[in-house]
Amino acid sequence: MKNEVANLNSGLQMPILGLGTWKAEAGAVEDAVEQAIRMGYRHIDCAAAYGNEAEVGFALKKCLDEDVCTREELFVTSKLWLEDKAPEDVIPALQESLEKLRLTYLDLYLIHWPVSLVKGSDGKKFYTEEELPNSATWKKMEEAVAQGLVKSIGVSNFSDVKLSKLMKEARIPPAVNQIERHPYLQRDKLMKYCRMNQIHVTAYCPLGSMDRPVALKESNEPVLLEAPEVAQIAKKHDCTPAQVLLRWSITTGSSVIPKSTNRKRLKENLDSLKVMLDPNDLGKLADLEQGIRFVDGSFWTQPENSPWTMENLWDGA
Ligand code: A2P
Repeated sequence: MKNEVANLNSGLQMPILGLGTWKAEAGAVEDAVEQAIRMGYRHIDCAAAYGNEAEVGFALKKCLDEDVCTREELFVTSKLWLEDKAPEDVIPALQESLEKLRLTYLDLYLIHWPVSLVKGSDGKKFYTEEELPNSATWKKMEEAVAQGLVKSIGVSNFSDVKLSKLMKEARIPPAVNQIERHPYLQRDKLMKYCRMNQIHVTAYCPLGSMDRPVALKESNEPVLLEAPEVAQIAKKHDCTPAQVLLRWSITTGSSVIPKSTNRKRLKENLDSLKVMLDPNDLGKLADLEQGIRFVDGSFWTQPENSPWTMENLWDGA
């Protein structure tokens, strides 16, 4: 099956369904990435912070060595961690990711969060935006493009306010904003802002990320994959709830990166591209908006001396 693509403002085409690797354990992710590429995935989403880039790299190398696909057919993303946002650390961090992933370039490199941390502070010491503006990190991301180390650059977890500030100083506009997005958190205002500014949106947590660390979970949170409205639509189309959620994300304008390390579910998720939702389904799913964030970023607001509040992290959205 041919994966549909999104046209990025960098000129690159991104397959709209990719494989997420957050929470994919080192022992399982290598097989998952290899199997995914063999069954037709061409977009793999990684990050230095996921701690599994070396295992992903083994799988990428194996698939490329065995001509399962060409490097040009693959779209690989990674993300700059927050302790590497000082200008002098950006390119070395990128090179480390490239080495682990066994690649000579990335298709997309993202600033993982607008938050910046002091190197070696174990997530406890923050730079304020005045001390280390995202625009200073961005200049080095632009330099990485000039050096041929990455083809496109973007951000993750940025609000419209933060994007707008960054774009005022950017030479290369961000190609992508990767954000949490699903029917419980549809992000209409941010989607509109990104569409108007030619910034593509990739949705993470599209299935509700039930395998998140316990510290990131609420005891009473709703289970997206078990929403009765989603089950009804799945029944109507003879597909699964996960396939409804993934197709919703694509139909409403984002690319989507479900994580799975299970072969059956990897295939199920890829096959969501065959599902078509009608306006009636989309209306019912639109009604599920509840403003529920599964990754709400409150962990950045908790350390002592953090300059971050929920208000200034998300700018009220
Ligand atoms: P597993 O890796 O065992 O398949 P998200 O992409 O929103 O972060 O969600 C990832 C979680 O959803 C993981 O627990 C993953 O488990 C599970 N998952 C992935 N695909 C499916 C699917 N098709 N049906 C049900 N659960 C799924």
